[in-house]
Amino acid sequence: ARITLRQLLDHAAENDYGVPAFNINNMEQALAIMAAADATDAPVIIQASRGARSYANDIMLKHMMDAVTEIYPHIPVCVHLDHGNEPATCMTAIQAGFTSVMMDGSLKADGKTPGDWDYNVGVTKTVTDMAHLGGISVEGELGVLGSLESGEGEKEDGHGFEGKLSHDQLLTNPDEAVKFVAETKVDALAIAMGTSHGAYKFTRKPDGAILAMHVIEEIHKKLPNMHLVMHGSSSVPQDLQDVINQYGGKMPQTWGVPVEEIQRGIKHGVRKINIDTDNRMAMTGQIRKILSEHPGEFDPRKYLKPAMEAMTALCKKRLEEFNTAGQA
Ligand code: G3H
Ligand code: 13P
Ligand code: ZN
Repeated sequence: ARITLRQLLDHAAENDYGVPAFNINNMEQALAIMAAADATDAPVIIQASRGARSYANDIMLKHMMDAVTEIYPHIPVCVHLDHGNEPATCMTAIQAGFTSVMMDGSLKADGKTPGDWDYNVGVTKTVTDMAHLGGISVEGELGVLGSLESGEGEKEDGHGFEGKLSHDQLLTNPDEAVKFVAETKVDALAIAMGTSHGAYKFTRKPDGAILAMHVIEEIHKKLPNMHLVMHGSSSVPQDLQDVINQYGGKMPQTWGVPVEEIQRGIKHGVRKINIDTDNRMAMTGQIRKILSEHPGEFDPRKYLKPAMEAMTALCKKRLEEFNTAGQA
């Protein structure tokens, strides 16, 4: 069944678990996630970015969402817009059947300029005012994602702030979080505490200086009933880096967010954990492996099936680690 983010995260808060939000762009990823949710009897969040919507087409995405709930009627699925950049993007997602949207006003609509307080509150409130009329949930974001190691915003994949940010901008201020939630009425709040999108988050295993989990604890103390969201939460496992590099890839050594840090977050109000990069790497590793071991192969199913299986395995692992398993 399709459910809203609010319904799912309220249940998660009552039962002390977290819910991974996995990104999709195509049928293979949608089926891989659902196979994992089914195998672990877990509810799940499937999210699509603006990039996914232009890659796959809204109508295709809508029918894929309908398809997965028809194939797996017993699995609660929240269909969420990842990083809506302006109210219009959120509204068209709702029209396309999403049950939850993110209005990311931490950056302006260009996806690069940090949004100031009035801008962020303004666009977020516009979306909650409209979405809540239709029973749709809204995630907002306060604080800009980026590296506490370098003091830089994101530069890797064409979205995110490019250049230096102050420490203050990179860490969500707990008192501002209280005000932001009161003014915008968001159902879930994404916060910044040192993670960034993509594979290259940290140049070493992160400690408290570069992954500021204490910020989550402070925010949770002030906002005990707010559902917190961790973006950039791929763990970038060494074995996935190794498979890619063993079969012709050239990924420099990198570190992601350790699962135990996410588990610590879940003890302090983190309910939604965004993961895309790990799944991209799981699929790509298998595709590289099959194509290099069988260079004569040209049937896409021969490499997409193992790619889906690797993604299912990763999703199952996270559903178990976040205690989502068994909650469907
Ligand atoms: O926001 C980050 C997600 O991984 C989505 O990435 O914008 O390339 O689809 P994307
Ligand atoms: P990763 O790049 O760490 O998977 O983060 C995904 C994300 O935050 C999507 O919104
Ligand atoms: Zn994100």
